[in-house]
Amino acid sequence: MDRKLNKTKKVAIVGTGFVGSSYAYALVNQGTVSELVLIDLDFERADGEARDLNHGVPFASPMKIKAGKYEDCKDADLVVITAGANQKPGETRLDLASKNAKIMTGIVDQIMASGFDGILLVASNPVDVLTHVAFKASGLPKERVIGSGTILDTARFRYLLSDYFHVDSRNVHAYIVGEHGDSELPIWSHVSIGGLPLNVYGKLNNFFEDRDMQAIFENVRDAAYQIIERKGATYYGIGMGLARLTKALLYNENSILTVSTYFGGEYGIDGVYMGIPAVVNADGVREILRLNLSELEQEQLENSANILKDMYKNLNI
Ligand code: NAD
Ligand code: LAC
Repeated sequence: MDRKLNKTKKVAIVGTGFVGSSYAYALVNQGTVSELVLIDLDFERADGEARDLNHGVPFASPMKIKAGKYEDCKDADLVVITAGANQKPGETRLDLASKNAKIMTGIVDQIMASGFDGILLVASNPVDVLTHVAFKASGLPKERVIGSGTILDTARFRYLLSDYFHVDSRNVHAYIVGEHGDSELPIWSHVSIGGLPLNVYGKLNNFFEDRDMQAIFENVRDAAYQIIERKGATYYGIGMGLARLTKALLYNENSILTVSTYFGGEYGIDGVYMGIPAVVNADGVREILRLNLSELEQEQLENSANILKDMYKNLNI
């Protein structure tokens, strides 16, 4: 199937709360799509967002935006699910699992009933487990059911490293992988700054301390808790991350992003969705990147996979 040559770029967003509307705002600003449909259990809310966003179109580029229904997913290139309850202060992403898994199944059933045959992207939490639920419920090939995975964590990691070293974050290559959540891990063995490995670049800076790197990772891992404590939810970072991923998918960019994708034996891991650098294009996930992990990284990745497998197994749906 060649999904690469579509002239129109139609995206439907299911769930127009903080995350869905921030993502929509990023798409409109960046002129990424030609048609945008907003779907929510609360139609009035989606309609209000569509009206508001339409008033920004003259400042961006021409596109159609409307509040819609599941039938509108039929000819969408991409449907992005950002619906569901969000984390309450102190609540882990995994606490949300059963509640949001039921919501996810109901949503995916309605999307598929429309005749949809595009790419499904999930951002609702716990994202890895819910992407797995969406994959099973949709019957779509695994390449076309993708989770936002650790794109946000990876962005947080690159931002914090760039801030520490005073280097543009676009020149910092670094990945967070595994669960989008407490068991995620940094791939220290592959961090590079302008092509220089971290330990080489670090030695060039006399302020560099190993223990600062551990603190940076802890800040990445706990970032959502810190923001939720202060403002109740996180949405701008993920909104922009989803927009970046949308561009990679709709414009066939073959970009390497840490999405949540299905492991079928890669890294010796099977039968689980979790974040890993993967090449994404108009067909979805083309391939999982096979990094040469350290022993500790491999062990931590397997630990994260086991946590997610248990979570999926124990879902009450
Ligand atoms: P929110 O409460 O602001 O919005 C959720 C929206 O979903 C609401 O508008 C609600 O009406 C809608 N909704 C609920 N059930 C629905 C259904 N069955 N069908 C259609 N719409 C439905 O929440 P939010 O802050 O936007 O967060 C949404 C999700 O995104 C949460 O699960 C949150 O944890 C997750 N999130 C993920 C990331 C990430 O990196 N993947 C980052 C931030 C938030
Ligand atoms: C995040 C959400 C809560 O900001 O998953 O990481």
